[in-house]
Amino acid sequence: MSLERTLTVRVERISRETPEILAFELAHPWGRALPGYEAGAHIDVHMPGGFSRQYSLARWSGAPSNAPSYVIGVKRELASRGGSASMHERVREGDLIAISTPRNTFPLREEATHHLLMAGGIGMTPLLAMAQALAARGASFTLCVFARSEEHLAFADALRAPALAPHLRLHLDQGDASQRIDLQALLADRAPDTHLYVCGPGGFMKAVRDAAAHWPEDALHTEYFAAPTDANTTTGLPFTLKLAQRGITVPVAADQTAVDALHEVGIDIPVSCQQGLCGTCVVEGDGEAAEHRDFCLTGTERRSKVALCCSRAKGLELVLQL
Ligand code: FES
Repeated sequence: MSLERTLTVRVERISRETPEILAFELAHPWGRALPGYEAGAHIDVHMPGGFSRQYSLARWSGAPSNAPSYVIGVKRELASRGGSASMHERVREGDLIAISTPRNTFPLREEATHHLLMAGGIGMTPLLAMAQALAARGASFTLCVFARSEEHLAFADALRAPALAPHLRLHLDQGDASQRIDLQALLADRAPDTHLYVCGPGGFMKAVRDAAAHWPEDALHTEYFAAPTDANTTTGLPFTLKLAQRGITVPVAADQTAVDALHEVGIDIPVSCQQGLCGTCVVEGDGEAAEHRDFCLTGTERRSKVALCCSRAKGLELVLQL
């Protein structure tokens, strides 16, 4: 259950970006502005068939207070459990669909003096918006985009717009060898106050993280589409939640998440992805005592926050500010 506001939007335009990726432009049904957002934000899309999926907003709106429309890119996954297939097959221009208001767990860091944006395939969507925001403010940044071929490059026109083109490095697997990016070489030396942002398929994320293993954790920011296949986000050892504000304890069984245990005693924590990706279920607490299993909090945030849909206590007890 999510406590966030749900909006009804009209599918204004659907355009084919690549053989596998469609772009959907979503607008207010009566032409009003939509809630604004910062680059890196995503929305939940509630699809026909009861599916709900998170999609990054692929265009920076230019103002955080309102947006004329939202653009998302949806890749049709071969192993789709219904989400991307539903969007590709059942949604048409003019349809009304329900979405959440934008939420941002992948923001640009104000303290960075240079931003290195690494995008793999459809992972380009949040990073394209971030690049547009950085270009608008005259910030120092490099946008590295990895795609199979020119045919598989989504949002190519936006990438090659005059404001972004000077900052773009394009790596095409099937392209000329001279344009390929050597991750090890690129990430070997980190200039002070450079922050790295990564979004893409699991293998790409791992390759970048491995090449940046020596970077400080707080300078590395990731946005996952799905939890890695080897991630355990549901079960573990039993423990107790201590709710500091209510002065009560709540037991969490081995086969339960903290969210489930709290729900059983009448405390509903908003959730969305339930995989540690979106940040909806994050609460304040003793993060030092948590076994963090999320993919959305930074090292600093993990000291005082916990994603309750997946994370557990390291030991017997976890104190939350609830
Ligand atoms: S519900 Fe998405 S991180 Fe917990």
